[in-house]
Amino acid sequence: MLKESLQALPGVAGVDIDSELRNISTSYISDVIGPRNFIKVIEAYEFGHFMATIFPQEEELLPSAYVNNQQPITIFLLRLCLVRATGAAEQMEESKVELTYCVTGATGYIGSWLVKSLLQRGCRVHATVRNPAKCLHLLSLAGGDERLMLFKADLHQEGSFDEAVKGCDGVFHVAASMEFSVPEKENVGNYVRSRIVDPAIKGTLNLLNACLNAKSVKRVVLTSSISTMTAKDDAGNWLPIVDESCQTPIDRVWNTKTNGWVYVLAKLLTEDAAFQFAQEKGIDLVSIITTTVAGPFLTPMVPLSVQVLLSPITGDSRLSQILSAVHSRMGSVALVHIEDICSAHIFLMENARAEGRYICCTQSCVMSELVHHLAMEYPCSNVQRLLKQEHGSVPSEISSRKLRDLGFTYKYGVPDIIKHTINYHEARKQRSGTEQI
Ligand SMILES: NC(=O)c1ccc[n+]([C@@H]2O[C@H](COP(=O)([O-])OP(=O)(O)OC[C@H]3O[C@@H](n4cnc5c(N)ncnc54)[C@H](OP(=O)(O)O)[C@@H]3O)[C@@H](O)[C@H]2O)c1
Repeated sequence: MLKESLQALPGVAGVDIDSELRNISTSYISDVIGPRNFIKVIEAYEFGHFMATIFPQEEELLPSAYVNNQQPITIFLLRLCLVRATGAAEQMEESKVELTYCVTGATGYIGSWLVKSLLQRGCRVHATVRNPAKCLHLLSLAGGDERLMLFKADLHQEGSFDEAVKGCDGVFHVAASMEFSVPEKENVGNYVRSRIVDPAIKGTLNLLNACLNAKSVKRVVLTSSISTMTAKDDAGNWLPIVDESCQTPIDRVWNTKTNGWVYVLAKLLTEDAAFQFAQEKGIDLVSIITTTVAGPFLTPMVPLSVQVLLSPITGDSRLSQILSAVHSRMGSVALVHIEDICSAHIFLMENARAEGRYICCTQSCVMSELVHHLAMEYPCSNVQRLLKQEHGSVPSEISSRKLRDLGFTYKYGVPDIIKHTINYHEARKQRSGTEQI
């Protein structure tokens, strides 16, 4: 009876409902149409009316079901929406409801993949780049010829982002200076403040000012970093759970000056200044606390975070030191797949209930576990030497609960991240004719 009623619906005729149900996957919503379009799909098809007809007693379920996809009925409905969205997507294309987003730092690892993800979702993208010669990999993206516009902009130039954010519905602020250390100097404090931290803050406030003036920007999603967090209390003890409240005290960064402290300081102070400015000016700002990102990449060079993750294999001592520094600060290495981090950025842009900071982490591994995963995919002598360590347990859980509770689901676990990173890295090397990792 239910099946017949469904089959009779416009857009569903001819669909094999049984096989659609077997292939249920809620991640389709974020992958294929995006939550905001999902709502539009529901509206477009008078979904409320449909619900009342077929599931009169379930009509109230939809909003909570959409966010908290626990119940079978929910998954069923989501899948059904997907089926109907096939038709609705064309309708949306015709009625030009697509959104325009600006992505800063579009030449970088996360920025370029985010541009690709947004284009895949049918959005228009204003991508900002410092050096147009570095963005060849963006020009060939599917949909790029019609829906991608490139803008030259530098965080250190006032007014640089004005044109790029004009007419945008939202801005993803991904760009950041990636300086990790400074030359040995007598007055290193002054140098770091005046040459690195102040320009970083000024650049982000420049961008937020441009958003304010544009009037069309409804939300800014800022890419923050796990390096702004601490897993230890003031007495130096491991915290059982690291959540969004565990920001590293700024004086601790100044006092300890551990590996990468300059980057940590710039990220911390920029984010604080951005939230303060946003609050004063009424800008809707959400930040995404990004853990170590890996997986495939579009950039011509191997991204730094991928190089760091692969350092137990490559044996690069400078990169291994970065990995060890991350590990000793957090007690583990928290990981996320490039596709998931980009989906999470978009999820936070489009979820009306998103506010404040969100840790995005699939899972974290202690070093021995990470080495074990690497060795499973790439058994080489470097990694074999490291394998001898016993597996420890993660002292502090790096919790992504706030993001999960909002309804975000991760597509990839740690083994996928490692596998995709190594396979992609290998394939790239072979294509370019260089030796293996
Ligand atoms: N990848 C990770 O594991 C990870 C983890 C935590 C947080 N994050 C955060 O994620 C963001 C992107 O990181 P990523 O890994 O994609 O790094 P990336 O590949 O080095 O990209 C950084 C981007 O920022 C741009 N940029 C740097 N300085 C700029 C300036 N003054 N004005 C305008 N653009 C500037 C770069 O442009 P050019 O190409 O011209 O240099 C590049 O496009 C950063 O905010 C980073 O802190 C990344």
